[in-house]
Amino acid sequence: MPELGTLEDLPLDYRQALAAQNLVPLWPSLRAVLPHGQPGPRTRATMWSYESLRPLLMQAGELTPIEKAERRVLVLANPGHGLEKMQASSCMYLGMQLLLPGEWAPAHRHTPNAVRMIVEGTGAYTTVNGEKCPMQRGDLILTPTGLWHEHGHDGDEAVVWLDVLDLPLVYYMEASYAVEGEKQDVVPRRGDSEYLRGGIVPSPVFTRDTSTYPMLRYPWVDVRAALETLAAERPGIDAVQVAYVNPEDGSDCQNILGFSALMLRPGEALALPARSPAMVFHVIEGGTMVSSDDARFALAEADTCCVPGFARVTLKNRSATEPAFIFIADESPLHRKLGLYEVRP
Ligand SMILES: [Fe+2]
Repeated sequence: MPELGTLEDLPLDYRQALAAQNLVPLWPSLRAVLPHGQPGPRTRATMWSYESLRPLLMQAGELTPIEKAERRVLVLANPGHGLEKMQASSCMYLGMQLLLPGEWAPAHRHTPNAVRMIVEGTGAYTTVNGEKCPMQRGDLILTPTGLWHEHGHDGDEAVVWLDVLDLPLVYYMEASYAVEGEKQDVVPRRGDSEYLRGGIVPSPVFTRDTSTYPMLRYPWVDVRAALETLAAERPGIDAVQVAYVNPEDGSDCQNILGFSALMLRPGEALALPARSPAMVFHVIEGGTMVSSDDARFALAEADTCCVPGFARVTLKNRSATEPAFIFIADESPLHRKLGLYEVRP
């Protein structure tokens, strides 16, 4: 590939004449915006230890009352993007949110899509479009774009969850905003109670649910059981993994980010193919080694890490006797919709 001319190759008065008319020469930046062979991501493989961040999150509970925070969150920021950008990857935002007993985070709705992966504690709930979703360790609760949501806490211990949003993308698109609302009236919950058994869906008088988000809560107890069944009944399967989908049509459960859960059998090592989307791993149970090109992280329970797109990732269960369970978020629905999705063997 021939070297291209640089800005410095151009006379100063020519560069000034261009700038005066809001013009920029392409060739000095061409290799940067179209690097050869694969992207040059800003996203850096980064790990956040829950044991290390937890005391700081609890301290936030003492320093900042919920009324002054609205959402009491420590953002897991990727240094590759600059901490002030508050993004884990180009399209994913991660935050650890703390809600203390008796607190209430008021209702709002916004254009970015969010999910919550519950990390610790019981007694809290999220009400999404009127459906009161209890929070238990490992549950996944959706708050898709435009749906009202608020968080409350009737229990007696701190509750923490991991928020995963497509905020960086929606903000970049200059499409990010929120609307505040009144406390919601609670309606009977559907979703996880109606769709518990795969292969059958409610169909009253031959009609099917046509809402975009028929299921808002995916209880960990059911997801874990599905993984264990898969591991027991299909011992030769490449990876014991399930995807969180819309139970009516099998599509991704949200439009931009994708979510799945993976079980590593005792001692299992799993080499993932290099794929275009960035990924986030959060350990629900057990311990996992995550190796990604030049990075290597020893994840314990509740730890989180992210890796850039096209990284070659190997996951290894750190235990020879117990399974490990991992929650995965990635940007694959977006890449597929845009025709950018790529898997390299
Ligand atoms: Fe929100």
